[in-house]
Order: sequence, then C-alpha cells, then structure tokens
Amino acid sequence: MDLGITGKTALVLGASQGIGRAIADTLAQEGANVVLVARNAEALEAIAADIARKHGVTATPCPVDLSDPQAVAAFCTRVENEFKPDMLVNNAGGPPPSPSTGVSDEVWHNSTQMMLFSIVRVTEAALPAMKARGWGRIVAVGSSGIVQPIPNLSVSNTIRGAVAGFCKSLSAEVAADGITVNMILPGKIDTDRLSRLDSARAEREGKSVDAVRASAQADLPIKRYGRPEEFAKVAVFLLSDAAGYVTGQMTRVDGGLIRSI
Ligand SMILES: NC(=O)c1ccc[n+]([C@@H]2O[C@H](COP(=O)([O-])OP(=O)(O)OC[C@H]3O[C@@H](n4cnc5c(N)ncnc54)[C@H](OP(=O)(O)O)[C@@H]3O)[C@@H](O)[C@H]2O)c1
Repeated sequence: MDLGITGKTALVLGASQGIGRAIADTLAQEGANVVLVARNAEALEAIAADIARKHGVTATPCPVDLSDPQAVAAFCTRVENEFKPDMLVNNAGGPPPSPSTGVSDEVWHNSTQMMLFSIVRVTEAALPAMKARGWGRIVAVGSSGIVQPIPNLSVSNTIRGAVAGFCKSLSAEVAADGITVNMILPGKIDTDRLSRLDSARAEREGKSVDAVRASAQADLPIKRYGRPEEFAKVAVFLLSDAAGYVTGQMTRVDGGLIRSI
C-alpha cells in the first residue's frame, strides 16, 4: 500500500526516545522529512544524523522545552513560518505517578503546560500551512488512562482527558479542510517511561522490578509489552494519505489492556 507521504514534512514532538523516536524513524522510512523536537539537543542531533543516513530524508533537530511557554512561543513562530509541516505528532513526556490529591501546584502547572497548552499552541501554528494545502494530518499520543484511568497516574488521567476533548473538537472544525485529527492510546509500550513507572511501583510495593514487569505482562490479554515500532506503524498509517477518511478517533494500541468495548 502506498502511504502517500514521500517528500512530505512531519513535525514530531517528544522525538528523542521511546514512542516519538519510533514514529519519526518509521515516517522517515516511508520517505517523509522529519523535524525532531525534545529537550535533549545532543540526542536529537544523533538521531537526526542516523535517520538521514538510513533513510535519505532531511531530519532536522529542534531542541525545545515544551513546559516553557516562552520557548514554545518562539518555536511556534518557526513552525508557522519555517517548518510548515504536513503532519504533526503531538507527544511529550508524562507526569510523575501520584494519586489525585496532594499533588503540588508545580507538577499540575508544568504537566498541563507540557501536555496540553503546548500542543494547543503548536497545533495552531501548524494549521495555516495545512489549510493552505488542503491536506494535513495530526496525531496525538494519549494513554489508555483516558478510557480506563490508571491507578496512581491521576495527573496523566486528568490532563489527557482535556487533550482528548481538544482533539475531538478540532477534528470537526478542520475536517472540511482535508485535515484529520486523531488520538492513539498506548497501553504498555516498552520505553524508558514504562521502565521508570515499573521501578517506582516496585519501590512502592517492595517488589523487584522483574516481578512487577512479569505480573504486569501476565495481566495483559496479549501477555507482553508492546514495542515502540508496533505503535509507530499505527501512528504512521493515521498520518498517511491512506487514512484520509479517519478522523476524530481514539485508536487503542494496547494489546487488549482496556477491557471495555
Ligand atoms: N510507554 C507507554 O506505555 C505509555 C503509556 C501511556 C501513555 N504514554 C505517554 O506517551 C508519551 C510518550 O511515551 P514514551 O513512553 O515514549 O515516553 P518517554 O520514553 O519518557 O519519552 C518522552 C519523550 O518526550 C520528551 N519530553 C519530555 N519532556 C519534555 C519537555 N518538557 N519538552 C520537550 N520534550 C519533552 C522526551 O525527551 P527529552 O527528555 O529529551 O525532552 C522524550 O523524547 C508520554 O506522554 C507518555 O506518558 C506512554
């Protein structure tokens, strides 16, 4: 199947590791040029060089702290006037684990800034070029916690619900411009973030990390964690020309983790 994205440009947030990195790599494999965003400038340089060498596309590192409103504003100017992406992947880090109460203002503010406000602004900056071309693809990385809240990840469960509302609202507003907006919900994808969450749980429950991992995998219908590349293939399909009639959806990539229909 021709995905129809050769030569198009994708802006991938949270691209220095994990899910975002895998999406950037898979997009480039399909011939898309990529702009890579995260905080770690050195990692981005190395990944951009690797992607360009492997896939013969243009890969541009762009270090930005998405929890810093001023940095995001400056970045948005570049998105609108310089990068003008055809495809946008709204992704970043996740908040620390916690119950719903007793969370500091700092964690609420920084997490909301990084996970919600920054993607609202970056999306706004990306839209004019997409509208002018009559073609655009936006995918946000969410979490299974939107449908089935994850215990002890209340900040994530809360803010991601707001992101889901933004994506669904926007999808109806821009569909007639040839722009689709979808969300993908990871269950347990084997990245550094999942390792950090497993380690925190092991410490809380006085278990080994291996025991926590084994029991978490045994609880999944599919009996294993997902690989970032498996997630990326679904994302790249939704970012492709082939998925032009799919919009306003939340697609689960969770090995059956969410139990509801
Ligand atoms: N893995 C899973 O199973 C899973 C499940 C549910 C939800 N999620 C969510 O999906 C998203 C991606 O997950 P992941 O597992 O790939 O996470 P990850 O391994 O922690 O990677 C997060 C990426 O976001 C970047 N990032 C973090 N804070 C940032 C900031 N302030 N500004 C700019 N970039 C920032 C990181 O790079 P720098 O450190 O270089 O900035 C990194 O590239 C996260 O929001 C996560 O919570 C993941």
